[in-house]
Amino acid sequence: ELGDHPDHMAKEIEEQPAVVSSILDRVARRAADGSMWVGLGLPGFHRLAIVACGTSLNAGQVIAAALRGIGGVPTDIVVASEADQAVLGPGTLVVAISQSGETADVLRALDRFEDRHPVLALTNNVHSSLARRADAVLDCHAGPEIGVAATKTFTAQVVVGVAAVISALVASGRIDAGRASALVGELTDLPARIEHAASIAADRIPLLVSSVKDATGFLFLGRGAGLPYAAEGALKLKELSYRWAEAYPAGELKHGPLALVDEGTPVVVVDHGEQRLQANIAEVRARGGFVITIGGEGSDIPALGRRAAGDLAWGPATAPWGPLEAVVPLQMLARELALQLGCDVDKPRNLAKSVTVE
Ligand code: F6R
Repeated sequence: ELGDHPDHMAKEIEEQPAVVSSILDRVARRAADGSMWVGLGLPGFHRLAIVACGTSLNAGQVIAAALRGIGGVPTDIVVASEADQAVLGPGTLVVAISQSGETADVLRALDRFEDRHPVLALTNNVHSSLARRADAVLDCHAGPEIGVAATKTFTAQVVVGVAAVISALVASGRIDAGRASALVGELTDLPARIEHAASIAADRIPLLVSSVKDATGFLFLGRGAGLPYAAEGALKLKELSYRWAEAYPAGELKHGPLALVDEGTPVVVVDHGEQRLQANIAEVRARGGFVITIGGEGSDIPALGRRAAGDLAWGPATAPWGPLEAVVPLQMLARELALQLGCDVDKPRNLAKSVTVE
């Protein structure tokens, strides 16, 4: 079932435009008119708490950014294994995100929340323990993911989650129907953007990776809506290549991590057009750091698109959910580095697809 693909990860990365298209076919209209949300039958909410681990947590950060950015709804992020520390106020809806729906940390977090708060599950397995326990379930519709590292399920979680956010905001009267359909229109461009990003990345990444493959550690930087993507890029790189990788808000660089930057230190920047990133990039370059920018025209990987005068253009990405297409070059970067270092990209050491122990 691998077909022409060298490994499951390559196949699953490549499936992303088709996965997004099929999700949009299912949900676009029901997101724009609010019926997707109404169909879930959940009570109204004043705030949201997103509970997840790993890549699903990074997808949750993107969904939270969209909810705050579009609707101004306060949203907490709860690392599932730290749920004991969380205090959720009245009127909080819990959104539990888990590809497998069997992650022990997420199920344990539900023990704490489910009696007092309604729970919406966002999962790729609608028959999972999480789905059974939740009050309502959203299917990610990513299809089976065999590679241990999550790729297409991240993208599917973001698209389904953002569609649900738009639907919830229009159904609750927080945004009007015109704004909702404009946002859904921006989502509709995503398959083309992802395909474009993948083809640029396929050209550029092998050479970039051969310049950094002997590095022992990597920094990933982003700002605002770009930050969860930097976090996801660092997570992928760690788990696949066994190299240290740390993601930081770019503004934090000068508060400590800049000390790590030396001649040749690789620093990957998710550049979605935030002006202040340029100063951060200059700080790294001034110390000899090897900067790889994923952004608009003029970047090392010019993969980020926006809509300009009716056409797709390749410049700063300004959607409230940030530069989703950036995740594809980040996945490909991690995979390519792992391959050049001789690692098994489908079965990284020490990791399991479904983590059923705390
Ligand atoms: C990273 C990865 C893990 C999972 C995490 C949560 O590539 O696969 O970080 O994202 O273990 O798993 P789910 O989403 O099944 O709860």
